[in-house]
Amino acid sequence: MFNQRTKIKELLQKGQAGETVTVMGWVRTFRNNQFIALNDGSTNQNIQVVASLGDFSDDLLRRLTTGASLKITGELVVSVGKGQSIEIKAATIEVLGDSDAEKYPLQPKKHSLEFLREIAHLRFRTNTFGSVFRIRHALAFAVHRFFNERGFVYLHTPIITASDAEGAGETFRVTTLPMDGTAKRTEAGAIDYSEDFFGKSTNLTVSGQLEGELGAMAFGEIYTFGPTFRAENSNTARHLAEFWMIEPEMAFHDLEDNMNLAEAFIRYLIGYVMEHHADDLVFLDQRLAEEEKQKPQQERAEMGLLEKLRFVMDHPFERITYTEAIQILLDSPAYKKKKFKYDVAWGIDMQSEHERYLVEKHFKRPVIVTNYPAKIKAFYMRQDDGCEPGRETVAAMDILAPGIGEIVGGSQREERLSKLENRMHTMHIPAEEMSWYLDTRRYGTVPHAGFGLGFERMVQFVTGMTNIRDVIAFARTPRSCEF
Ligand code: 4AD
Ligand code: MG
Repeated sequence: MFNQRTKIKELLQKGQAGETVTVMGWVRTFRNNQFIALNDGSTNQNIQVVASLGDFSDDLLRRLTTGASLKITGELVVSVGKGQSIEIKAATIEVLGDSDAEKYPLQPKKHSLEFLREIAHLRFRTNTFGSVFRIRHALAFAVHRFFNERGFVYLHTPIITASDAEGAGETFRVTTLPMDGTAKRTEAGAIDYSEDFFGKSTNLTVSGQLEGELGAMAFGEIYTFGPTFRAENSNTARHLAEFWMIEPEMAFHDLEDNMNLAEAFIRYLIGYVMEHHADDLVFLDQRLAEEEKQKPQQERAEMGLLEKLRFVMDHPFERITYTEAIQILLDSPAYKKKKFKYDVAWGIDMQSEHERYLVEKHFKRPVIVTNYPAKIKAFYMRQDDGCEPGRETVAAMDILAPGIGEIVGGSQREERLSKLENRMHTMHIPAEEMSWYLDTRRYGTVPHAGFGLGFERMVQFVTGMTNIRDVIAFARTPRSCEF
């Protein structure tokens, strides 16, 4: 058998002097023609391997370059050097794959995140990305554990759909029609999608919610966790064209139940990572502190990463209505001193500068904003009763997080058929094509609610990474689709 190896993480935790072990991994550094720092991705800690002088040929030693992959067998011994308690005294060293030291792009020094984005196929081999992607994995695992513990059914909703769930029109089209202008046209001159693969116009999904609602109307509680796609032309540090979203949907839940679940969920995810990946968090905490030092004083975050995560674990989120949020902004020194680029008035879709003010300056903690104007929210949100004319609101909730902005978007859903139909009519959403969705309101409708957590934004929050491109393996953003 080839793979009789011990992972370095396990070795550093449980290894006893005197044991003979086999490790495999990649060379981080090779010093003094004797000391190999080997890493296998299980932890940022390297195992030090000593190739005693005279034990190995010069030919072999020349091949121990940064990036080369090795299989090493040897005895664990107590280390006399600084920085590690045990090390391996190598008996055999096998080079599995050479790495040309002249050409290998990852040198044993600090590289900028921008540079590493260009070599995203190799950046997993750095400490920063090692920590980020182990934590991303842990978060994904914790998502399933959280819902499984609560009896939710994991529903796989389709990736190709014929609807635009959010009604924002920012979809990627899916077609097999020829692109050279020869596609058949209707009498009116439009492309005839009845000739297309699915016999209609289709796109990549922007959200699994509508199908999720169908599941909730049978299982009570479901969640989705899958890729979603948005052709928004936003080149920011928090938008991707392809991102992962978790969307729970619950029957017999109102807006407050929805907020309680979302808050418990976020705290559970953070708690899981703190418990299982403390070493990676400590590393990222220090990394962020270094990054913050480069910024001017007034732009620095008030809390370090670990401090922030502990704070969120211990303090409830602030809950305010949209109307209250607008009032806070209007009363703010920032507004009075004309510091906002975008105007503030009841009815606006808050810009990120407004959200950041509320979260980072005013409340200094995550904030849940509820009851947004109907005009700026999706058709499926439950219409609030008893609104003043011109001030119609819906039972929406967005969770805003420090340094991130919107991390969760959700709502109680409109379960009353006629109200939903009226809203769809005003918003020009064709009810005939959505009759499958409306059936849930025709046959045993119930009050229900759900939300979507942007997975990458959650990974950003937990790892402290400023740019969303650094928390997904291979980012898809406007004008960029490498690897
Ligand atoms: O607020 P959004 O658009 O809500 C929905 O899609 C609902 N159907 C969710 C639901 O109620 N089931 O998106 C939800 C979350 C946002 O709060 C944000 O965290 C993330 O998805 N998100 C993005 N993340 C990365 N890149 C983008 N372009 C994103 N757009 C939304
Ligand atoms: Mg939203």
